[in-house]
Amino acid sequence: MSAPQPGILSPVPSHARFLEFVALPDCDTHAVLRDLAALSDCQNLVVGFGSGLIRTVGGTIAALHAFPAMSGTGCEVPSTQADIWCWVTGEDRGEVLHQGRQFAAAVSAAFRCVRAVDGFRYKSGLDLTGYEDGTENPEGEDAVEAAILQSAGPGLDGSSFVAVQQWLHDLDHFETLPREDTDNIIGRRLSDNVEFDGSPESAHVKRTAQESFEPEAFVLRRSMPWADDNGAGLYFTAFGKSFAAFEAQLKRMTGQEDGVVDGLFRFTRPITGGYYWCPPQVDGSLDLSALEI
Ligand code: HEM
Repeated sequence: MSAPQPGILSPVPSHARFLEFVALPDCDTHAVLRDLAALSDCQNLVVGFGSGLIRTVGGTIAALHAFPAMSGTGCEVPSTQADIWCWVTGEDRGEVLHQGRQFAAAVSAAFRCVRAVDGFRYKSGLDLTGYEDGTENPEGEDAVEAAILQSAGPGLDGSSFVAVQQWLHDLDHFETLPREDTDNIIGRRLSDNVEFDGSPESAHVKRTAQESFEPEAFVLRRSMPWADDNGAGLYFTAFGKSFAAFEAQLKRMTGQEDGVVDGLFRFTRPITGGYYWCPPQVDGSLDLSALEI
């Protein structure tokens, strides 16, 4: 029976490598996907496919589309849609690196890696600002309900839709802001993680309060800090049974509902954005039957 790729519902690992690939011209992408479906060890990988690739191989996944670029007052949200997204997870950084290399080799006949970002856990699961990330994540059955497609038919049941964005923080600027300002940006206190009364409408947890949307907009966030020579920030990932909840949150963050922009943009901005369909798996292998592969 099909089940979700296990990494989606597992706790955030200590180490990760996020890889994005685009199709090479005139290559047999169908054959590579067929080979991927035959790989039997997907335990430490979560794999997703972009809408352009799905169309290329003749498939249709109704809720899948490309990441929409957005613009708000003083904020830009870019789309850098790729064809394959792969999240390699583990507790050993070397193992993660080697698994990523193996995956890249497995798809190299038709895909080129265009982005590789190393993610890591900071302390107990904090963003690099020190604020706890993931507090209001749904758990157990609620996590499955939010993140996993169900009752959609064979090949689709057990799949998930992931929105990914690499956010680049200006940590030097963030550190100049008084604690009152940074608490107001998030809407929670750094000292005790409590969501306090009286935060501004721009507070991030007010912009994204999942129960405040109609319909309610629950997602399962599995974001991780990243850092390299180009800077540091949060590699944001949100799994959903469609992109509707994420998109509703992002529209409100960019002020498209009421003109109020999320306070986060005072110190951070997204530099990438992609949407991917994560197929279910059967017996440890990707189930691509929805694509007739
Ligand atoms: C640099 C980027 C971001 C940072 C540092 C960040 C950080 C945080 C923090 C510290 C919290 C409070 C604790 C928690 O419940 O997790 C939070 C909550 C949340 N964030 Fe973000 N976040 C970022 C981007 C986003 C984006 C792009 C979205 C969706 C479009 C989002 C959706 C949410 C949601 C749904 C909640 C829980 C709200 C609730 O129901 O209380 N976040 N985030």
